[in-house]
Amino acid sequence: MAKTNSSFVSSPSSPPIGKPTTIAFVFSLSSSPLRTMDGLEHPRNGRTAYHFQPAKFWQNDPNGPLYHNGMYHFFYQYNPHGATWGDGTLSWGHSVSGDLVNWADVGNALDPTSPFDANGCWSGSATVLPGGRPAILYTGIDANRVQVQNVAFAKNPADPLLREWEKPDCNPVMPMPADVTGNNFRDPTEAWRGRDGLWRVGIVAEVGGVGSLLVYRSADFLRWERNAAPLHASDVPVLECPDLFPMAPPGVAEGLDVSASGAGVLHVLKLTDFAKEDHYMVGRYDDEADTFVPAEPERGGDPGNWRRLDHGHLYASKSFYDGRNKRRVLWAWVDENDGGGVARGWAGIQAFPRAIWLDADGKRLVQWPIEEIETLRRKRVGLQWATEVEAGGRKEIAGIVSSQADVEAVFEIPNLEEAETLDPKWLQDPKGLSAEMGASGHGGVGPFGLLVLASGDLEEHTAVFFRVFKHDGKYKVLMCTDLTRSSRKEGINKPSYGAFLDVDVEKDRSISLRTLIDHTVVESFGDGGRTCMTARVYPEHAATGSSRLYAFNYGAGAVKVSKLEAWELATAAVNGGGAM
Ligand code: FRU
Repeated sequence: MAKTNSSFVSSPSSPPIGKPTTIAFVFSLSSSPLRTMDGLEHPRNGRTAYHFQPAKFWQNDPNGPLYHNGMYHFFYQYNPHGATWGDGTLSWGHSVSGDLVNWADVGNALDPTSPFDANGCWSGSATVLPGGRPAILYTGIDANRVQVQNVAFAKNPADPLLREWEKPDCNPVMPMPADVTGNNFRDPTEAWRGRDGLWRVGIVAEVGGVGSLLVYRSADFLRWERNAAPLHASDVPVLECPDLFPMAPPGVAEGLDVSASGAGVLHVLKLTDFAKEDHYMVGRYDDEADTFVPAEPERGGDPGNWRRLDHGHLYASKSFYDGRNKRRVLWAWVDENDGGGVARGWAGIQAFPRAIWLDADGKRLVQWPIEEIETLRRKRVGLQWATEVEAGGRKEIAGIVSSQADVEAVFEIPNLEEAETLDPKWLQDPKGLSAEMGASGHGGVGPFGLLVLASGDLEEHTAVFFRVFKHDGKYKVLMCTDLTRSSRKEGINKPSYGAFLDVDVEKDRSISLRTLIDHTVVESFGDGGRTCMTARVYPEHAATGSSRLYAFNYGAGAVKVSKLEAWELATAAVNGGGAM
């Protein structure tokens, strides 16, 4: 995509996984957190405290996440020359971790040094070949600026850090096909193996103006042959960053290796529509015919109409199978939103890794922060708001550094009588409805939720909240993240995000919310992770003062907070940066 420097266009419990073993030798803890006059931690230069960032400069897409020989590897689109997307200079940054929380930079894995990638090493994936040798498939921008697919192999698979990668001379292994238009041919998926023993890889391409997911097959990972028919052909021309992976049965919070197949196995196809961000469809992948039959065909071929991965600001996600903990983990790029990257000397973070699994309905993904986040939990404060909260009610959750926190809440709604009637014009536009309603406007049932990263005078705050409407004899629950008051600063993007939850609030009478707060990012998981919303915010007060956290109910109807736990999170060791 054409990057600018500012923006681009019910089981709430965590999955049953084991504790990670930390590989100690790689990490030295980052220096102690900065304590300011008020005794609280403040970020240097807006950096986040536990989200993945390189020490400096620009990053975008996650590339080739991998678990190998006891170590997690994370690669990413990195510009080693500055804090803007580097046209012609993109490398693969590379960090390693023993726990997916603390990261050490081990130097770039790929740099644009060969004729077949002279103008950039773009996105791709990693696969461990039989015998244990990791391989990368990535898009090279060649000396003529043509997009081609290349392979690279770990030079020494026994090196726990996989520091060196070699690019064989037979590259490009997949040259640009003659029928591809617009120079759009990129972003190989992780390769998987069919039951015939052949490798497959998916690559998005604009074929005669049609955004297609091409499948190539190979016996040796070097010679690749294109299938006659694409696995998916969409109504939009430009797709990016495909991901195709199998899932454990609906409702089972586990993951499967990318090559798992069998009669009962459902797959997820995720595509990034250039204009509309990341969407996915559950379906059946047939590894004999290399076809994908969607579970919800009525949504059509444009991924923009499929289920949205995150209703906020998140792009180019990529998942991997974590063999240590038998789960699938999702990474995603969260871009800046204020154009301030160059001044800060860095731009772009990764969403905190999320475990993903299929919901019981077999159509939706559930996303939940990986449980290793709990290793960062320090001080806990709770709030029992058992008594009904009158309209306009607000309570501060004090006693922790709430600029880096993990908050879990359950809101109970004893009666729904006050719910306003939904104007049907908003049914297809929950984002527009959020913008119209905002958090400060008083309503019937809601808005209720959290005010995060709030200044002492409340002039600055980001609201994450719900609002219940009557519609067609039933109820609709809107989830919002309202950024309009997130910062006093002018000239930055402060949208409102919105989505309708797929819940039966009349039956449940409660709604859960988990929010991760980290200085300039607010990641929210509604309804146990079935609806997610990520936001970047730049409160001015963060440079000098501490942030506050509140639970609120600005609706006419009473709401109870039956659970609210807020944890202060420690600063992780992230590539020598962190919140220092
Ligand atoms: C998505 C993307 C990919 C491409 C990479 C280049 O954000 O445009 O399609 O490979 O970024 O950095």
